[in-house]
Amino acid sequence: MGQSMRVALLPGDGIGPDVIAAGVRVLDAVARQDRFSIEYSTHLLGGVAIDEMGEPFPAQTRDAVIRSDAVLLGAVGGPKWDRGPGHLRPEAGLLALRKALGVYANLRPVRAFPALLGASPLREEVARGVDVMIVRELTGGVYFGERQTGQLQDGERFARDTMYYTESEIRRVLVKGFEAARLRKKRLTSVDKANVLDSSRLWRAVVDEMKSEYPDVSVEHALVDSCAMHLVTRPHAFDVIVTENLFGDILSDEAAVLTGSIGVLPSASIGNGPGLYEPIHGSAPDIAGQNVANPLGTILSVALMLRYSLGFPEAADRIEAAVEAAIAGGARTRDLAAGAAAFLHTDEMTEAVLAHLA
Ligand SMILES: NC(=O)c1ccc[n+]([C@@H]2O[C@H](COP(=O)([O-])OP(=O)(O)OC[C@H]3O[C@@H](n4cnc5c(N)ncnc54)[C@H](O)[C@@H]3O)[C@@H](O)[C@H]2O)c1
Repeated sequence: MGQSMRVALLPGDGIGPDVIAAGVRVLDAVARQDRFSIEYSTHLLGGVAIDEMGEPFPAQTRDAVIRSDAVLLGAVGGPKWDRGPGHLRPEAGLLALRKALGVYANLRPVRAFPALLGASPLREEVARGVDVMIVRELTGGVYFGERQTGQLQDGERFARDTMYYTESEIRRVLVKGFEAARLRKKRLTSVDKANVLDSSRLWRAVVDEMKSEYPDVSVEHALVDSCAMHLVTRPHAFDVIVTENLFGDILSDEAAVLTGSIGVLPSASIGNGPGLYEPIHGSAPDIAGQNVANPLGTILSVALMLRYSLGFPEAADRIEAAVEAAIAGGARTRDLAAGAAAFLHTDEMTEAVLAHLA
């Protein structure tokens, strides 16, 4: 065996443990094929951590993730913990985890699988060929800027949030955007509102200054309103979209519905240390423990982990091809089966992917 990688597993709540088990089987399979080894460790996060340790992100989990090469997360949350105080909610654990890892760029690829085009809310000819990645700034902008609420002298209430970015915050996420474009079709769309906002004009200036460092990547600017429109009218026109936090939050959810199923979408959150990889869906308490969760979002997150943290891009390509082949061959979990009585369970879908990997 060649190199060894340390992967921290955070199954979390609900369907989290089921989809993590699927991701591990696929990661093990490519590790065997490519002769590297994985050292796994499993840790508590979210509701299960509140139950066992009294807090959603225990110190043991924190120590383990920062020493890992990459982190694979299932999902957190559920009705059992919805009534606790804010800092004792599972979601607080997720925010603390992202902060501990210093992940400032969120990558969300959205690909239309030809065999699933019928599930898209868009007409098939519009959805066909969609293959876009949104790179969203994750730790700055209006969600983290200064804020104030109060009352004017006449008693009228006001509230204020500030969209604030420094040059270096913009630059580091743009680096991730340019690098992602390099690994794909080498087209980058930078999205802003430079006709109105100073923070966007700074963003655009930094993009223009960086262009010469990436002569192989073609760059265009788009305003966020027009980008939102084009995402549903001609989504195949985009390759990588890079944008600030608030715009990216909205555009990535818009893009997520293009393919018609939340269960197949992966995500990566990266910075300068270990990356965090997770499906975009939540803990789906309504189907927990039934072995019916779609594992493909997690399996495709494993592919992102291999590409962006572990340095095995060919293994990532193979996993993506195996998922595509399994779907093309008719493999469907219940969420993709459009009401049909026959569908694959979580472990069976995982085996369908493994069969195409072999
Ligand atoms: N990153 C995270 O951990 C994360 C993200 C979103 C929501 N949540 C939490 O998850 C809990 C449930 O939230 P929600 O219901 O709004 O969102 P959800 O994504 O958990 O579920 C939405 C719907 O999609 C279905 N679904 C989700 N993932 C699926 C999969 N892999 N296969 C098949 N069907 C799937 C569910 O059954 C449900 O009907 C809440 O506590 C919420 O806070 C966590």
